[in-house]
Amino acid sequence: MKLSFSCCGVSCCSNTSLPFKKKLDARVSQKEIGHVYDKLAHVYDVWGKLTESRARDRAIDLAAIEDGQSILEVAVGTGLAFYEIAKRNPNGYNIGIDLSNGMLEKAKSRLKKLSGANYSLKFSTAFDLPSQTESVDLLVNNYMFDLISYEDMDKVLAEFKRVLKIGGRLILVNMTEGETLGSRLYDFIYRLSPKTMGGCRGVRLTDKLEQHGFTVEVREYYQQMLFPSEVILAHKHA
Ligand SMILES: C[S@@+](CC[C@H](N)C(=O)[O-])C[C@H]1O[C@@H](n2cnc3c(N)ncnc32)[C@H](O)[C@@H]1O
Repeated sequence: MKLSFSCCGVSCCSNTSLPFKKKLDARVSQKEIGHVYDKLAHVYDVWGKLTESRARDRAIDLAAIEDGQSILEVAVGTGLAFYEIAKRNPNGYNIGIDLSNGMLEKAKSRLKKLSGANYSLKFSTAFDLPSQTESVDLLVNNYMFDLISYEDMDKVLAEFKRVLKIGGRLILVNMTEGETLGSRLYDFIYRLSPKTMGGCRGVRLTDKLEQHGFTVEVREYYQQMLFPSEVILAHKHA
């Protein structure tokens, strides 16, 4: 299996985790997250377009969606990616879930502009997905693991693995550890005030994915307005 790691941001450097850095764990609890994002829903698109659009667009390209698939987007937010997914998969089955009603309302109004696509948007959590076992061809999850504690990541990855078909593809985008001095600004802000960062801190998911029975095919690093993101394509092996 081809494994490509690359660096596609404004400036490039090492792909390795910095050994002297202590891992930052989640400091906003899952109980609070829905409320945090209900409040952020009306401004989220500005942030999402200024700092995350390159990584999100790359994720859609990597997903190589074919019409007719069963696609689940977990933590759909305001529907920035989900709109593109449903547009490419109008005759398939598209489900988007989130635990913030405020974000879901924004996603619903965005998707109204898309006619003829088969989709549903539901209130649900990544810990208990509304999909049958081994029923999903493609699972997309953008900027959620950076909110989840390292301990809880294992539970969520087990749930992702449950719903994906064998060979099913996983697209993940996360805020990651900055690889340049400026890009570490965001983790610095998080250390001072996690809610200012919407609860997001830099994480790296490739090792955990391999531990959970996924094969990582691509991991790319992006920087936009200094904001560091990783884009991952993986698949579930037998
Ligand atoms: C930073 S936003 C990203 C939204 C969207 N994926 C995007 O890229 O624009 C994080 C989203 O994750 C959702 N979220 C956080 N924890 C979740 C969970 N356990 N289950 C479902 N959604 C969750 C939040 O409600 C919020 O909408």
